Order: sequence, then C-alpha cells, then structure tokens
Amino acid sequence: MCGIVGYVGRQQALEVVVGGLRRLEYRGYDSAGVAVIADGTLSVRKKAGKLVNLQTLLGEDPLPGSTTGIGHTRWATHGGPTDSNAHPHVSEDGSIAVIHNGIIENFAELRQELTAAGVQLSSETDTEVVAHLLARELPAADHDLTGAMLSVCSGLEGAFTLVAIDARHPDVVVAARRNSPLVVGIGDGENFVASDVAAFVDYTRQALELGQDQVVTITATSVSVVNFDGTPALVTPFEVDWDASAAEKGGFDLFMLKEIAEQPRAVADSLRGRVDADNRIQLDEMHLSEQDLRSIGKVVVVACGTAFHAGMVAKYAIEHWTRIPVEVELASEFRYRDPIVGADCLVIAISQSGETMDTLMALRYAAAQGARTLAICNTVGSTIPRESDAVLYTYAGPEIAVASTKAFLTQIIASYLVGLYLAQVRGQMTAPEIHAVMDDLNDMPHAVDLALDTVDGVRAIARQFADATSVLFIGRHVGFPVALEGALKLKELAYMHAEGFAAGELKHGPIALIEEGVPVVVVVPSPRNRAVLHDKIISAIQEVRARGAVILAIAEEGDDKITSFADHVIRVPIVPALMQPLVSTVPLQVFACEMATAKGHDVDQPRNLAKSVTVE
Ligand code: AGP
Repeated sequence: MCGIVGYVGRQQALEVVVGGLRRLEYRGYDSAGVAVIADGTLSVRKKAGKLVNLQTLLGEDPLPGSTTGIGHTRWATHGGPTDSNAHPHVSEDGSIAVIHNGIIENFAELRQELTAAGVQLSSETDTEVVAHLLARELPAADHDLTGAMLSVCSGLEGAFTLVAIDARHPDVVVAARRNSPLVVGIGDGENFVASDVAAFVDYTRQALELGQDQVVTITATSVSVVNFDGTPALVTPFEVDWDASAAEKGGFDLFMLKEIAEQPRAVADSLRGRVDADNRIQLDEMHLSEQDLRSIGKVVVVACGTAFHAGMVAKYAIEHWTRIPVEVELASEFRYRDPIVGADCLVIAISQSGETMDTLMALRYAAAQGARTLAICNTVGSTIPRESDAVLYTYAGPEIAVASTKAFLTQIIASYLVGLYLAQVRGQMTAPEIHAVMDDLNDMPHAVDLALDTVDGVRAIARQFADATSVLFIGRHVGFPVALEGALKLKELAYMHAEGFAAGELKHGPIALIEEGVPVVVVVPSPRNRAVLHDKIISAIQEVRARGAVILAIAEEGDDKITSFADHVIRVPIVPALMQPLVSTVPLQVFACEMATAKGHDVDQPRNLAKSVTVE
C-alpha cells in the first residue's frame, strides 16, 4: 500500500499535500515525495525514509508556491526504498509527474519497450514507466492528460491507482483506478484525490468513491469521471462520517481490525503477478539457479512468533508437493543447537518486518554454513531480504498493529508459492497440477472474505469468555499451527494464559488442565477429506467436555456432525485441506482482539511488545 494525495484549488498545494501525506503515512513510510506546478514548470522533491526526511529537504530546498500538486508516501514493492525509487516519477522532458499505489504486473515488458525506444529510465520501479508512457501518448491525445491516461491505462495490467499532473495544464489533476483504492474529495473551490479520505477529511467530508477502471479529472471547480473506454461513469457520492484519526484506520476503531479486514486484498495482492507469460510460477528476486534448487535435499524454515507458525503450516504443503523434508525452527534456537545445515539446504527466513534479529542471525549462520537462503518478507529492502539469495515479498501492505494478522495469511501464501516453485523446478508436479493449486489459491481472497462474515458472531462469543483465566486451543494437521497462532494472539493481546496443542497430545498431559468451564477452542479438520482426523478431534472434544470444558469449534460449512459436540460453532468456508489455515485463523484473530478490547487493553500496541524485535 502507499499513500497518495492530489490537490487543485485555492490553497497552497504543498501544505495540503504534505498534510495529507502525514495522515496517510501509516500506509507506507519507505520514502515520500511531492510535485507542484508553478509558472508552467513542474518541480519535484522526494526523499527516502519517513515523511520527516522530505520535510527537512523541503526546508532546505523549498518548492515554489503553487495551487496544484501531488504527493506520495511509499510502501516499496518494486525497487528498494531509495531517493531515485521514491515517487513522483517524471517524464524525460520533465513535464509530467506520476504517483502510484499498486503493482503494474506487465511493467517488465513496458520497461523493455521504452528502453528499446531510447527512453532513459532512472529508477527500478514499475511506476516510472507510466510517466514515460503518458509523455508518449500526449501528442496523440491532443495534449489532453485525461485522454493520454485513458490510453496508457488500456495497456496496463495489475492493480494501480495513478495520479498525474502536466506542467502544460497547471490547473488539472488526473487519476486512474484499477484494483486499488481512490477517493475524490469535493471542496469549495478546491478538489482532492487520495488513497483514502484521511488525506482530505480536514477540508471536506463530501466525497466520491470511484469504481473499477475509471479515470477522474479534477480542477478547482470541476470533477469529471469516465470509464476506461471513455464513456461517462456513474460514481457514488458519500459523506465522510469519520474524524481524521478514525479515517487513518479506514473507519475501524483499531488498526488490527482494519488489517484483519484487509486480508482478502492482502492475499489477492500477494498472489498477483506470480505466474509469468508461460504460466510458470515466478518469484520476485530469484538469484538461485534452477540447478541450485534441484540440488536441495532439505528445507529449513527459520522464523519467530507468528512467522514461525506460518512456517509450520508451510511444512505440510511443501513436503506434500516437493517430497523434500522441511524442518521448521525457532530462529532463536536454531544456531545454538549445532544444526545440520549446508550447501544442500534451502533455508527460508520468514519475517514481516525483515529486521527481526533472531531470524537475521539464524539466516547469517545458515549462509555461513553454505546454505542457500530465501526470504519471505513484507518489507521491501529490509535487512533479511537484502542478505538472502532469493526473495519472495508478501504484498500485505504496512502492518501497523503489533499483533500480526494479514502478514500471517500472506506468509502462508508466499510459502505455498515457494513450495510450488520448488515442485515446478524439480519436476515434482506437472504444470496442470500446479495450475490446479494456483486456481485453488486464487479462490482464497473470496474465501477469506467469507470468513470475515464470522466477525460479529465471534465477537459475541468472545465477550462470554472475557472472564476466563485460561483458554486452550487444539487442532490437528494444519489446524495444529493455527491453534498455536490463536493462542499466541490471545496471549499477546488479552495478557492471559492461552496454550495451543496438537489435539492428539491432550491425553499425554495437558488434559490435566481441564476443569469445569475451561474454554477450549477447537480448529476442526474437514470431515470431507480428513474424516479420520475429524473423528479423532471429536474424540478429543468428548474427552475434554466430559471434564467440564466449554467448546468453541471453528468448523467448515456443512460439518453438521460437530454441532452436537460444541457449545459454540463458528462456520468458515469449505476450502482444500491445506488452505484451511487461511480461513480458520480469521475467527481466532477476532476472538483475541475482542477479548482484549473487553479487557480495555491497547490492542494495537500491547504492553511489553514491539512490532519488530531488533534485539536478540
Ligand atoms: C505476532 O503477532 C507478533 N507480533 C510476533 O510474534 C511476530 O510475529 C514475531 O516477532 C516475528 O516478527 P517478524 O515477522 O517481523 O519477523
């Protein structure tokens, strides 16, 4: 995700745009930049790092006064967080500036096309191609920026919100939207475009939400919207009833709730662009040869906390698809146990922040032993991917809440893509088999969206358990790491004892914890393709219920057998067995969030914790 602002009106554009970026900085903080038009000249300032770095630059090298401007705060996807990769990006003649939120999937071909035409590209980003394409299309569009934008958008694939200005038309801002948010603020003698209302809610609460494949052209006194085919578009006006702070959370009370709700998009964005023109799986930055990967004899996952649980889920899938043994190691323990790791190992470091010291040190140890290394990370340009041989980024966007949610689901997605890539390279799965799994994965954003329908039911149940002193979580197969994740969420948010177990382990000790009224959350395997496990988990439920446990079952739609064994049942969509964690985790996230809220805790910033643990 990135923060985007465009303005044209009667105020100083720079003040409005920078103020808007400050409201949007939670959407990305790798770099920031602004562009304004004054006296027919485009001026740009941009800087790596947080917005404050740009503000320092603006103090040292001020922009001229202007009433038309755009601004961007970046969450890097293509190209690290550097000054040159910061937005806005500018056409070669210096007349057009563009900012972008999303992923242009066909940017590689477009870059090649522009380079072949003699265009000098100055960044590693996908966005820059749009600035050059607009410059190329303007003459054919009679130098109408709207027309040029329509033409360029017709050749783009992927997800994008684009905002552009042209020095030759100083009173116009043009924006386009596909699969990425864009709202218009309707002011008095001024108008705004932004990635969300937080950017302009201080100035106006009258807004328009754009639909898919639409282009909006704003001036100080007009707003016009067309579809990509040039026909007039229907848009939905609305009044913003949030204050600026709530707007940063998209109207949610908590960043965690917002990020739980973002999971369908995060999963979709992490799947986007993962197959090349030949329909083969491709990773972001793969500096490992196929020969290297064919020589791998073992996979070792090193990670911490939630990322470790994602690795535990990944083990089931990667071993199933590749028949390579997968060890999942707590990064903090890995290098102290004299592990067997060498050139025949692929060590996968999973980390949302890319800065977790335990994981980084485990990665360095593995590399020193000659292992190949691959990072699965949500933060482009962070230390762990920088020090890895190969990288697969999750495109979850910034995760602000300390409790990891959308990062967890996208780490599973990315791990599955790595597993499929290995199976593809090693010939362990046929192309049709890989495509079938990709088809299932591409159904997951919708499945996760359906799982979000459980939110209200889960919140009501959680409040019934608010006085519990301990909650146990049990699961089988891929439901076991989900049980661990549910317990971790409850620990870190509600500050209460919570423990996850493999359901089969209960009778080997933990069942002694059961007494009257103890809540037990059960992640129920599907009865369809794991009938034996389903029967065994029912046995486990009967064992604990006989001793007074209160059962909250997370079970798939249509699993009627579970109903009579549970006090509460939360229904999640039917999905393939290996993908169940993507839907069964959602109610557990909400459960923990609601329990913490009921206890009056600071859910987004729980006590004693940090979003990135950069010490060992
Ligand atoms: C999970 O909710 C916690 N925030 C924590 O366990 C986290 O997953 C762990 O510290 C790893 O962080 P990373 O993914 O940034 O490496």
